[in-house]
Amino acid sequence: MRVLVAGAAGSLGRVVTVGLAEHGHEVVGLDLVPPPEGTTFAWHEADCADADAVAAVFAEERLDAVVHLAGVPEERSLPEELTSHVVTTAALLDAMVAHDVPRLVYASSNHAVGRTPRADGELTEHALPRPDTYYGVAKVAAEALMRLFADRHGIDAVSCRIGSFLEEPTSVRNLSTWLSHDDGVRMVEAALTAPAPGYAVLYGISANTRAWWDLEPGRRLGYEPQDDAERFADRIEPGPQDEAEAQFVGGPYATAQFHRPALGD
Ligand SMILES: NC(=O)c1ccc[n+]([C@@H]2O[C@H](COP(=O)([O-])OP(=O)(O)OC[C@H]3O[C@@H](n4cnc5c(N)ncnc54)[C@H](O)[C@@H]3O)[C@@H](O)[C@H]2O)c1
Repeated sequence: MRVLVAGAAGSLGRVVTVGLAEHGHEVVGLDLVPPPEGTTFAWHEADCADADAVAAVFAEERLDAVVHLAGVPEERSLPEELTSHVVTTAALLDAMVAHDVPRLVYASSNHAVGRTPRADGELTEHALPRPDTYYGVAKVAAEALMRLFADRHGIDAVSCRIGSFLEEPTSVRNLSTWLSHDDGVRMVEAALTAPAPGYAVLYGISANTRAWWDLEPGRRLGYEPQDDAERFADRIEPGPQDEAEAQFVGGPYATAQFHRPALGD
C-alpha cells in the first residue's frame, strides 16, 4: 500500500514509518517539521489543520490509505485541542473523499474514555465517550467525525485508543497501559489491512498481564500483541501518585491538576 503517515516526525511516527516500510508499504511522510535525518521516503512539510495544504499533498500523491498520527499528545486549551485533533482529521477525511482514498487509521487515545471509573471493570469498544480532559473531548469528536465519514462515504476508519506508547513502562499505571514499539507497528499494520472493518475501535496496548482494556476488538481486526509490560514490573518503583492515578482509566489526566477553564491557557 502507498500510505500517507501524518505526524511522521513524532514519537509514534518515527517508529510506525520504519515499521510500515519493513512490512512492504510505500510510506509518504507529512509533518509540520522537516524529515528526521536519514529519511529516504517522500516528505511533505504541511499543517494538517490547513485544508488547502492537505489538498495539495493529495493532489500530488497517489495514496491507498492514511495513518493520522499528527497532533499534540497532551492537554492544551479546548480550541487548540479541537484544531489539533478534529480540524486535522476533517481536512484529511475531506481529501480522502475527494481522491477516493478508502482507509484511515487514527491515533485516538484512552483519554476519550478516561473519566470512566476503574471500578466499572474492563473497557470494551462499546464504552460510551467519557473524556477526562479537553484532549479527550477532541479525541471523542475526531472519532465521531470518522464514524460520520464511514457512514456517509463508506470510508474504512479504524480508531486506535492508544494507552502509553513507550520503549519501556515507567510507572505502575504503565504496567496496564503500555504499548510497545513493536506492538504499535503490529497495531497499525492490522488496522491498515483488516478486510472491510467499516468504522471500528480498538485499544492500543500490548498483551499486558495487568491490562484493563479489552484486546478482543483489536484481535478481530488481526492485531495480536506480543509484548507484556509485566517483564518490567520488578524495575518499577511505586510512586506517591499511584493511588490517585488508579481511580480512573485516564490516570493522571483524570486528577484535579487538569481542572482548567475550557477557554483559558
Ligand atoms: N504517545 C502516546 O503514548 C499516545 C497515546 C495516545 C494517543 N497518542 C496520539 O498519537 C498521536 C501522536 O502522538 P506522539 O506521542 O507521537 O506525539 P508527538 O508530539 O511525538 O508527535 C506528533 C507529531 O505530529 C506533528 N504535528 C502536530 N500537529 C501537526 C499538524 N497540525 N500538522 C502536521 N503535523 C503535526 C508534530 O510535529 C509531531 O512530529 C497524537 O495524536 C496523540 O494524541 C499518543
